[in-house]
Amino acid sequence: MRRAYIDSIGMYVPPKIVTNKDLEAMMDTSDEWIRERSGIHERHHVDGECTTDLALKAAEEALEKAGMTAEDIDHIIFSTMASDYFAPGGGPMMTRRLGIPGTPAVDIRMACSGFLYGLSIAKAFIESGAYDNILLITSEVQSVALDFSTAGRDTAVLFGDGAAAVVLKPTDEQRGIQSIVTHSDGRYAEDLMLRSPSTLDNPFQSHEILDKGHGKVTMNGRSVFKHAITKFPQVIKEALEAAGVEKSEVKLVVPHQANLRITEAVANRLDLELHKVVYSNIHKYGNTTSASIPIAMYEALAEGRINRGDIVVVASFGAGFTWGASVIQW
Ligand code: ACO
Repeated sequence: MRRAYIDSIGMYVPPKIVTNKDLEAMMDTSDEWIRERSGIHERHHVDGECTTDLALKAAEEALEKAGMTAEDIDHIIFSTMASDYFAPGGGPMMTRRLGIPGTPAVDIRMACSGFLYGLSIAKAFIESGAYDNILLITSEVQSVALDFSTAGRDTAVLFGDGAAAVVLKPTDEQRGIQSIVTHSDGRYAEDLMLRSPSTLDNPFQSHEILDKGHGKVTMNGRSVFKHAITKFPQVIKEALEAAGVEKSEVKLVVPHQANLRITEAVANRLDLELHKVVYSNIHKYGNTTSASIPIAMYEALAEGRINRGDIVVVASFGAGFTWGASVIQW
């Protein structure tokens, strides 16, 4: 059977580090509060770079590690919540940045689940024989849409900027993506959103809209937390069942790095030992939306925590709400 597997991963975060102490100077918060509630110590923010700048660096590393050039890519899948332009999307922009005009590209706006959705599209493209080499890029610049005043402190402290890219290829071997399950539920759209520009308004952008704070990310943290700790374990179980894999066979769970308390609650509910089986690097990067899973996989690989043949589970939950999980044999 023709399967899709991840051949290489690249990542990039902008050099500017913003510590919790730095945030203390901007709003009424404390290093202690942020560490205790989220596990985050610092995050990276852009300082003049745009979404495709980060994406390009991550993509170049992934291509180099795969021993490929951009010309070898048959299709781009691009996930972001904030492209360089509101329209067109970042996918076509990446054909320009990579110097491969004419290459098909599709955009995904599935927030923290963008990597899972991108993986599901790549899997379908590769298994059907439609395409061979796919470049899945996740690139997120959230810092430009956060409210760094005290009014926005519950949300602004959580997010960081970053990008990752993976090259997916076909294989006939018993490896690669064994299952993917994805879900969405728009009933909770307003619990985590970036309201504007919006077609609810005409014109869809104005000084008045910006004055209302509609150009910034807003969140109902308690609702997100409550749903995340239920949906993560559920969807992981679904993906394991779909792959016919037992929990005991799993070498590593790489969840979306939403916040450490969510990750801890998920590990508890799945009866997994957090430090042995569930990967976390949120202390360094905060929540990098759809880039967080491939960034965490990149680091888990570099640390030798994922090796050829290992069963790895990736899982996400985020705005929409959207959630998903995949079982991958490395
Ligand atoms: N610094 C200091 N105090 C703060 C901050 C801050 N950054 N943010 C909120 N507070 C205050 C609140 O104003 C409140 O003060 P009050 O008691 O005087 O009213 C107090 O801290 C407690 O607020 P709560 O909302 O009860 O805090 P809670 O324990 O729920 O933690 C948090 C808030 C961290 C946002 C939590 O709800 C959470 O983790 N939610 C999940 C959100 C998340 O992970 N989002 C990521 C994006 S979605 C995803 O990736 C899955």
